[in-house]
Amino acid sequence: MSTLITSLMLLIPVFLLLIKRRRSTKKLPPGSLGIPVIGQSLSFLRAMRANTAEQWLEERIKRYGPISKLTLFGKPTVFLHGPAANKFIFTSDNSIIANQQVKSIKMILGERNLLELNSDDHRRVRSALMLFLKPDSLKHYVGNLEEEIRWHLEMHWQGKQEVTVLPLMKTLTFNIISSLLFGIQRGSRRDKLVDLFRQMMDGMWSVPLNFPFTRYSRSLKASKMVQNIVSQLIHEKRVELEQKGASPQQDLITCLLSIRNDKNEEMITEKEIVHNVVLVMTAGHDTSSILLTFMLRFLSTEPAIYEAVLQEQEEIARTKAAGEFLTWEDLAKMKYTWRVALETLRMVSPVFGSFRKTLKDLEYGGYLIPKGWQIFWASPMTHMDNDIYPEPSKFDPNRFENQASVPSYSFVAFGGGPRMCPGNEFARIETLITIHYLVTRFTWKLCADTSFCRDPMPVPAQGLPLQIKQKKPL
Ligand code: HEM
Repeated sequence: MSTLITSLMLLIPVFLLLIKRRRSTKKLPPGSLGIPVIGQSLSFLRAMRANTAEQWLEERIKRYGPISKLTLFGKPTVFLHGPAANKFIFTSDNSIIANQQVKSIKMILGERNLLELNSDDHRRVRSALMLFLKPDSLKHYVGNLEEEIRWHLEMHWQGKQEVTVLPLMKTLTFNIISSLLFGIQRGSRRDKLVDLFRQMMDGMWSVPLNFPFTRYSRSLKASKMVQNIVSQLIHEKRVELEQKGASPQQDLITCLLSIRNDKNEEMITEKEIVHNVVLVMTAGHDTSSILLTFMLRFLSTEPAIYEAVLQEQEEIARTKAAGEFLTWEDLAKMKYTWRVALETLRMVSPVFGSFRKTLKDLEYGGYLIPKGWQIFWASPMTHMDNDIYPEPSKFDPNRFENQASVPSYSFVAFGGGPRMCPGNEFARIETLITIHYLVTRFTWKLCADTSFCRDPMPVPAQGLPLQIKQKKPL
């Protein structure tokens, strides 16, 4: 026995050496890590602001191929490109590849938000959110959404000759989220929340230096105040639910509070509700406002497509009496309008890409990606690939006529796999209703050029000013 143990002890160093040698046979991907910590971050951010980030990544792909290493935002990173890489990133087990957010986002949104959770916790909280965001539940909110949209158009579009679209769409999508997901009605509380929320968002992508007067510290302060308001709302809704028999479906907070286990205990902790409510407010309103803004921009520059959308929406409007609300069935008929939305998302994705981190050494495409490195994916690179979308710079909604023909992991505006955007159906409904009212009640003309930059979301020149005319009452 003791000889066996001695021989095993002797073999351990040999075994370790073999493992080490096996690891070193795998090469790191091509490319340079650049100056430590800084690496290529500044040049990448400059390209984002100048809206040349796609060319920037294209040059990398030409030079190094679809897998290359670099340093972004302080960490060694591997950039992966193409549908197979997207599949690998989106569907790998999260004991190997986990979600990764920059520190400022984690601190501002809170550590129990869905983006920070993995494995069982991620599944539990995500299924709770899905109870509210699934189409069957959303069906019941079409009327409320429409009421918010009509009110917005009466307040901000009716009687105006010129509007700036992006800030208006941000106000609209924020108000929709506040009223529907959190049950906050119009008034001073909602206005205060909008204000705080804007301050909070301001420092989301800042350097996380918590000194007085930095953008980051102002954001953290605003985030604490937003979280206090949400905590107050939770207490009010708990009382409504327990003492006044409120419906669990009346808003997202009430829905999350009413999910119970076998012992009738709440399954989502109060901290999780607060942090995820703040996440949904952030993830839900900015992205949709960009989609709506760029749809209006493409509809201005593509007259044939505008005519086809107008025809589809007028046909639906003709079946309605004055003031009658749209129905779920009406939304199902807006197929062409949704294709225009998908093509807009393909050409100008609100989410440029995101990061993951490796929890183990792993191999992809013959290269080693070491434990602790970041993985970066970017949607425009897949969306503008000539092999997947011929003539990629042409705006052509018919690419999505038969959605089953779009190859898997080739349309990634909503991400993919278990972390795919849970708000895509919500975004579809608010987009279709808003476009219905805009095209059937107004005409518009662009008053600025069509350029845009990224910050990191796309921002059109001057926020997209439009000259508008109302053709019918709301
Ligand atoms: C046009 C609109 C939208 C776009 C383009 C969009 C895009 C995305 C993308 C690309 C991701 C995945 C990011 C990744 O894998 O790293 C994501 C995740 C997410 N989105 Fe959206 N989104 C939109 C609207 C919404 C809305 C309306 C909501 C909520 C009502 C929402 C809530 C979320 C949440 C909670 C996540 C995190 C999911 C998870 O980690 O499991 N999004 N979104």
